[in-house]
Amino acid sequence: MTGGDEQSAAIVVFGATGDLTRRKLLPSLHHVAAHGRLPRGVLIVGFARQPKTDAEFESDARAAVEAAQGAVDPKGWARLAGRFRYLAGDFAQREAFTALADLLDEVAEEGGPGNRLFYLAAPPDSYPTIVANLEHAGLHRETRGWSRIVVEKPFGRDLASARTLDARIRRVFAERQVYRIDHFLGKGTVQNILVLRFANSVFEPIWNRRYVDHVQITAAEQLGIEGRAAYYDRAGAVRDILQNHLLQLLALTAMEPPTSFESESVREEKAKVLRAVRPLARAEVPHAAVRAQYGPGTVEGAAVPGYREEPGVRPGSVTPTYAAARLLVDNWRWHGVPFYLRTGKRLPRKHTEVSVKFVRPPHLLFDRTRVQEIARNVLSFRIQPDEGIGLSFQTNVPGLEVRLGRANLDFSYAEEFPDAEPHEAYETLLLDCLAGDRTLFARADEVEESWRVVGPLLEAWDTAEPGDVPLYPAGTWGPVEADDLIAHHGPWRNP
Ligand code: BG6
Repeated sequence: MTGGDEQSAAIVVFGATGDLTRRKLLPSLHHVAAHGRLPRGVLIVGFARQPKTDAEFESDARAAVEAAQGAVDPKGWARLAGRFRYLAGDFAQREAFTALADLLDEVAEEGGPGNRLFYLAAPPDSYPTIVANLEHAGLHRETRGWSRIVVEKPFGRDLASARTLDARIRRVFAERQVYRIDHFLGKGTVQNILVLRFANSVFEPIWNRRYVDHVQITAAEQLGIEGRAAYYDRAGAVRDILQNHLLQLLALTAMEPPTSFESESVREEKAKVLRAVRPLARAEVPHAAVRAQYGPGTVEGAAVPGYREEPGVRPGSVTPTYAAARLLVDNWRWHGVPFYLRTGKRLPRKHTEVSVKFVRPPHLLFDRTRVQEIARNVLSFRIQPDEGIGLSFQTNVPGLEVRLGRANLDFSYAEEFPDAEPHEAYETLLLDCLAGDRTLFARADEVEESWRVVGPLLEAWDTAEPGDVPLYPAGTWGPVEADDLIAHHGPWRNP
């Protein structure tokens, strides 16, 4: 929430040569430095297998910032230059962690930061080893300052492995030291779901089963798997997005008002509503959920290969690149209101949205007009791109007779706040880690509840045969089965 109070630290990135570090972490650190928000003295310590000097790591970091942002900001870079250290090591090598501890001690003794932020940006199956070796080197101890660990998603592969991972982490780190990151929570537009709901009085009274017909939550991507087959083919759409990003969006949309904006209040309400999501029975999966994989197709006029043709994907892979599900929340507020969630890669465009569709007015007063059915009001949170909020409603079309027409109230961030500087979700979250604010990080029980919800999907789909997985042509809005899933409540909202 970047309430300030960030403290300087040595930020140790495990997986320092990886995709996430290059594309998100380094550009975000640079951007906060450019805006004068990075505390003085922050040190970025890269840890990865590849041998490199400090200077090489620094120049690679600069190249990563340039690739992401076009050019470095001279002021921002001046604040980072000389602040890179690099340690080559295998995550399983205890001596490498002892060397890391020595390096961090040396830094602190020379007047550098004593606080340590360990960022796991490495392959998820290396997390237990890294945690064990941090413990072995005593790096979890808070002798010189605080010690915090950031764990990237996916947190486990299913409920059982998430519990095991959590137990391993918690044997070493106290819960207050653990930051389970879901970068969607760092997006300003996602936080705005809470602001709109709880800083206005007009929405909350109608935010329930009496007025809401159903909710749609979409994270559509135009991109394919971007050379990440080694990770993605084992993850798939459910583990990559639905279990974390989409269920977090559901939690923010459906949660009860927290008593305050304190981290525990917010996280408690999110966990409560996730606990109320009804798990699908295994037999219900074919009727309440759909998965599919993209085949060859055309995106923005260019031919693109199908998922199974992507380099590194196993032949005959059954990994879904599209998943949709209808979920119910078993509580007083939402009884009977379906939440439709969907995500897919290689869809026609990037489009992330939460839309709340309201019930029709109870009585059709305008039956003398040609309208037989009044369209429902829809309140939509456009999370990205074209960030904003829309509300559709009925209006009288100018003319001699009463005629109904559909109109929109539209709020666009870019138009309303033209001077606001766009920022990456990771910037907010990294600053929150340095400030010790865990509001936007998932608590262990939220993660576990999310795995419980998607468990039946994984069980049903992990073991499918290649022929069982429907294909959709890349560049289309997914399989027809997904349209059937929502048919009773109207079509998916596509841009
Ligand atoms: C990541 C997923 O968590 O989110 C990626 O691993 C996905 O597969 C990305 O592309 C989408 O994030 P954003 O912020 O671009 O919507």
